[in-house]
Amino acid sequence: MTATIGTAETGTTPLAREHFPAARRWAYLNHAGISPLPQPSVDAMVRRATEVSLDGEFTYAAHSAEIERVRSAAARLMGVPSTDVAFVKNTTTGLGMIANGLEWAPGDRVIVPDLEFPSTLYPWLALADRGVLVDRVRPEGPGGRLTVEAFVDRIQDGPPPKLVVTSWVQFGRGWRVDLAELGRACREAGTLLCADVIQGLGVLPAELARWGVDFAMADGHKWLLGPEGCGVLYVRGSRLDLLRPLEPGWNSVAHREDWDNLELVFDDTARRLEGGMPNVTGIAALGSSIDLLHEAGIPAIWSHVDRLCDLACAGLTSIGATVLSDRSVEGRSGIVAVHLDGPPIPLLAKQLQAEGIAVSARAGGLRISPHGYNNDEDIERLVDTVATLIRT
Ligand SMILES: Cc1ncc(COP(=O)(O)O)c(C=O)c1O
Repeated sequence: MTATIGTAETGTTPLAREHFPAARRWAYLNHAGISPLPQPSVDAMVRRATEVSLDGEFTYAAHSAEIERVRSAAARLMGVPSTDVAFVKNTTTGLGMIANGLEWAPGDRVIVPDLEFPSTLYPWLALADRGVLVDRVRPEGPGGRLTVEAFVDRIQDGPPPKLVVTSWVQFGRGWRVDLAELGRACREAGTLLCADVIQGLGVLPAELARWGVDFAMADGHKWLLGPEGCGVLYVRGSRLDLLRPLEPGWNSVAHREDWDNLELVFDDTARRLEGGMPNVTGIAALGSSIDLLHEAGIPAIWSHVDRLCDLACAGLTSIGATVLSDRSVEGRSGIVAVHLDGPPIPLLAKQLQAEGIAVSARAGGLRISPHGYNNDEDIERLVDTVATLIRT
């Protein structure tokens, strides 16, 4: 596969458009929802399924090596050592492993933004019976924007919290939290930092270890372009022993596959959290998707997506839309939300779907989330169709 670097002049895209069958059917601008699976990842999945259909267990050694290769590729995307990465079912599972793996005492505080995705909030609310207090940080302004100062105010407003939890990128309006600054503030306060990175990983450059993030998780099916239900969890090596492995199993121990050794000696990497058999077929597809991202390069993908978001904002504003998202350099992401007068936004999203344009309605806004294979025509099609629909 040859990766091409997108420019406005050549009309090429960083991710080769021909890898995405969905691009032949849709102007697909909904990667904050569920990404269409690229063809090479479909092929990787079918290959793995075919191999196991023919040779069962005798495929495992090769696939086990592939799992470790994908772990390294995912780690590189996150900017962390591969020994700090575990495969998990989804983002919610990763969050639950932190919430239920840490030891809590009555009165421990957790700080979480308001207007979070439910899965990023519920695990901490569910600790109420252990006396854990959840303090919310209110985003600013109508569009929403969450500054590190707002977190710091909350951190300082009481005893030092045990944990700050936040989405890197908020799911509805797309504001981005500065994890490097927040990591610094958490270190100064002696507080752990957990970042739900599902709305950023795969489109934004990440250096989670350097930024001081302690825990992070993302499922495959959004910006990672992978299958559903196959995600990754980062646990900073020095924090691993803070977590009780919730599902200890054969794959958790240092001597795994030595079936006669029943000593419980946990592996000294994040793999101890995996417990049993990983989703090998899913990991094969996720690995192929991550390879595509690496081949294109995250910086190239991000600058392309950022430009498409700008294009969408300019086009939609020109037909009367209000941009709800924070488009400042520090706050922007691959998600933009707009409001328009005309049909109610959920109806507008459905009408667009009927016209072959995939976007979503979230919290009163039309949410647009392009990826590295979308092109200017996809955005023009969106703007032209919205213009027609709001006139009728
Ligand atoms: C910020 C955020 N966290 C978590 C999730 C849910 O992830 P999963 O289904 O992988 O648990 C979503 C899905 O939209 C999300 O936007």
